[in-house]
Amino acid sequence: MCSSQITQLASRIAANTTLVSEYLAGKNLPLPSFDLDGPLDTLIPKEEIAIEAARVAIIDDTEELRRLVLGPREHLMSFAHDVLLSQQAIVRFKLAHSFPVGGEASFADLASASGLTETTTRQLVRYAITNGIFTEPKRGVIAHNAVSRLLVEDAVIFDWVATAADGGWQAASRICDALEQFPGSEEPNETGYALAHNTDKPIYEYLAMHPDKARRFANMMRAYTTGTGYELSHVTDNFPWGELGNGVVVDVGGSAGHASIAIARKFPSVSCVVQDFAPVVQSFSDAVPAELADRVKFEVHDFMTEQPVKNADVYFFRWIFHNWSDKYSIKILRNLIPALKPGAKIVVNDNVLPEPGILSKWQERHLRSMDLTQMLIQNAHERELDDWKDLFEKADARFHFQWAKQPQGSTLWFLVFEWAGKD
Ligand SMILES: C[S@@+](CC[C@H](N)C(=O)[O-])C[C@H]1O[C@@H](n2cnc3c(N)ncnc32)[C@H](O)[C@@H]1O
Repeated sequence: MCSSQITQLASRIAANTTLVSEYLAGKNLPLPSFDLDGPLDTLIPKEEIAIEAARVAIIDDTEELRRLVLGPREHLMSFAHDVLLSQQAIVRFKLAHSFPVGGEASFADLASASGLTETTTRQLVRYAITNGIFTEPKRGVIAHNAVSRLLVEDAVIFDWVATAADGGWQAASRICDALEQFPGSEEPNETGYALAHNTDKPIYEYLAMHPDKARRFANMMRAYTTGTGYELSHVTDNFPWGELGNGVVVDVGGSAGHASIAIARKFPSVSCVVQDFAPVVQSFSDAVPAELADRVKFEVHDFMTEQPVKNADVYFFRWIFHNWSDKYSIKILRNLIPALKPGAKIVVNDNVLPEPGILSKWQERHLRSMDLTQMLIQNAHERELDDWKDLFEKADARFHFQWAKQPQGSTLWFLVFEWAGKD
């Protein structure tokens, strides 16, 4: 007898769950749990390719199984307008910070700490619990679980959630309005983000005028670099930085300087210049570890203007161009030209969109979501490999494509172009 799709999925989930669970037990690692002391990350090292593949298959298959047993109608109705509401409220009103990790609080306690009414607090927190944040061990008594604990103890992940669930979510809610109002726009200030924030500035200029939001955004970028697929080891291990000798790397739009710090730490003769807007530079330039301070410098630079660091060996763009429509990406590239020596490398570490159906559904959704995020914040988009080559070609035919690869386990690709212009 042929087994049904749902039983096939269930069997595969069971088999892969056994693989993951036996791996963790064999290594004496804790099993997944949202208990207060549960592990905060997957604990499967990226080198464990088969086990990681089993984990990813569990994520895809459980979602597929859930959809099938919901049925199309309930599936559609499961996407409600409140999807990020509890996260937004938790970060806006600091609900997770209202009582200590390991302690307990009543709704009245949370209300008096947050300034919300007790009824509102109960609504928000009980909804959050259905999304896996907080627990209610006894009726009316709220305690932290591993998720709410993370929000209290990890300021970077707190800022990630705040950026996504507050500003980002508001921007998403205005994207269709922006598409109607500015059809086909490539302008970074004609977006859902701009409408939601009631500004005519592009997001990064708006952030520059709001240092607190800018710091949060930079922390969000940092949070990505600690997530699976974005480890900075991919940056250090997949380009021959060591061959630069005592060369100079310009980390254009380098934010908190995390990539440059990782490169400088691993390659003791390389120097890095981290360029970004003034508020970002002010927030992070003092945080360079003392032993790297002579090789990792920060500099205020707007990459929509001419590049001031001449004759560097590498101009490194990590996660920059995906924020910009072709019109502005071309401008950024042309702004480099007066600074480039022959043979200078333009090293891009960014997303490359796959053909549909090649990646796991979970990984593909992540990239497609990133693609939409670029639309709503900047009227930009992610690119397929040929789009990248076309972009550089359009900017100037003297940018020669050298190679591109997606390192094993990395979400971002490396794309390397060489400047073939003459002195
Ligand atoms: C998506 S983040 C990438 C940060 C960093 N490269 C990384 O990989 O985490 C984009 C960065 O570009 C910076 N940025 C945006 N517009 C800029 C401009 N016109 N000039 C300089 N930096 C800019 C932002 O402040 C932000 O730090």
